[in-house]
Amino acid sequence: MNVILKNETLSKIEAELTVLFLTPEALEACEHKTLLSKTGFKATQDAFSVLHESGLVVCGVENYGSTALRSAAATVVKKVKGYNYSTLKLNQYYLKNVAALVEGFVMGAYSFEMYKSETAEEALQEVIFSNDDFNNESADFNDIQKAFDDALITATAANFTRELVNMTPQDMTPEVMAEVAETLATTNGLECEVLDEKALEFENMNAMVAVGRASIHKPRLIHLTYKPENAIKVVSLVGKGLTYDSGGLSLKPAASMVTMKMDKAGACAVLGMMKAVSELKLPVEVHGFIGAAENMVDGSAYKPDDVLTARNGTTIEVRNTDAEGRLVLADVLAYAQDTVKSDFIFDYATLTGACMVALGPYTTGMMGHSNHLKHKILKATSHSGELVGSLPFNDHLKKLIKSDVADICNIASKPYGGAITAALFLDHFITDEMKQKWMHFDIAGPAYTESPWDVYGHGGTGAGVRMTVKFLESLSEDK
Ligand code: BES
Ligand code: ZN
Ligand code: ZN
Repeated sequence: MNVILKNETLSKIEAELTVLFLTPEALEACEHKTLLSKTGFKATQDAFSVLHESGLVVCGVENYGSTALRSAAATVVKKVKGYNYSTLKLNQYYLKNVAALVEGFVMGAYSFEMYKSETAEEALQEVIFSNDDFNNESADFNDIQKAFDDALITATAANFTRELVNMTPQDMTPEVMAEVAETLATTNGLECEVLDEKALEFENMNAMVAVGRASIHKPRLIHLTYKPENAIKVVSLVGKGLTYDSGGLSLKPAASMVTMKMDKAGACAVLGMMKAVSELKLPVEVHGFIGAAENMVDGSAYKPDDVLTARNGTTIEVRNTDAEGRLVLADVLAYAQDTVKSDFIFDYATLTGACMVALGPYTTGMMGHSNHLKHKILKATSHSGELVGSLPFNDHLKKLIKSDVADICNIASKPYGGAITAALFLDHFITDEMKQKWMHFDIAGPAYTESPWDVYGHGGTGAGVRMTVKFLESLSEDK
């Protein structure tokens, strides 16, 4: 299905269906009001009705803001895919909402079909945006076009991330992830360097190597680089890429292990971000670092009681092999800072169940030292379609990861504040120079869903991609 923009008014565009987004007030003024009320339509958010004879699709919205329209657009495309119409057209709903509508249609239409032996032929081929606004206040077409094109790139990159997250651990191994990165590098003009297990040992990435040791699929570090000539800033993005997290010897209970293919979502998000920034041609040098490994069990597995010496020399007492993400990130963060001098370093990880307890399953937990940077990120991402909430550090929680036998312990001594203590663990691998430039994003909640919400169906959501693109775009705006 294609989502396209035409420099034509709605009436000039040929399509089988026309979409109308209606607030309760707009429904009152709608010429089809009587007929719509017969269908039970009340213009509540995401309420849907179709008048087949008039070729009209209506969807309720609380208001004409981006959140409401994004969700409604996703509802429309999900429903219309169940009919036999091939084309759908719509008005603009203010320039500021173009991106949200594109995201709604593109991300709402996504479903994961890779492992289905029979996939139904989709009737819906085209969603066509017209150039005129629903309230007759037309914006400049160049502005509409730019907003549309950028949103299409970002939403498609988020879907790319979702597809990778959804792939099974047998198909998406660390080695395959490195191949995906290499292919992306070739198509998008990026540099790509891959470190295999031997190279990781040579680089003293002992914590990461220990995590991946019991798997037949050996770990990889992936470094992608997007280097435009007009770069105004340098940003490093680091992703947790556990292609499967069984928990290791601290084995997860059976029910908690299901969905742990999603433990690579941070890495897949970084791949999606690299795709987006290179296609958007943003004037920012971006480095993507991925720690890809599989946390498994065999005779060589790392153990609770082991002490690991990370790349930066910090010794880590392992008390739980299921707190593996922070061990991988410890080394990848250190490697990223050693290799690239950046203005910002962000990491993305499905790191803790505790973050879901703290913020709920829809919100990314943001942790770091700089309140200034947190505000900058919140401002830039507020209309990104992703939810971000800040969790605060404090010195008392810091003490909970002290160890009696090593420098630090990989789990906290108390069961509360687990998202923050995990982030404070990562803090040990951030150099003094980078403390104020680092931000950690725990995407354990929003990265994957088993019940549909907003633009998402079952599976990976692409969490991290849209919000990060918005932040990177904001860097060129405050140039
Ligand atoms: N990958 C998990 C975190 C996770 C849990 C992500 C649920 C998505 C959904 C991580 O490696 C993990 O197992 N964390 C442990 C940490 C604990 C052992 C301190 C957790 O959250 O229970
Ligand atoms: Zn784990
Ligand atoms: Zn994990």
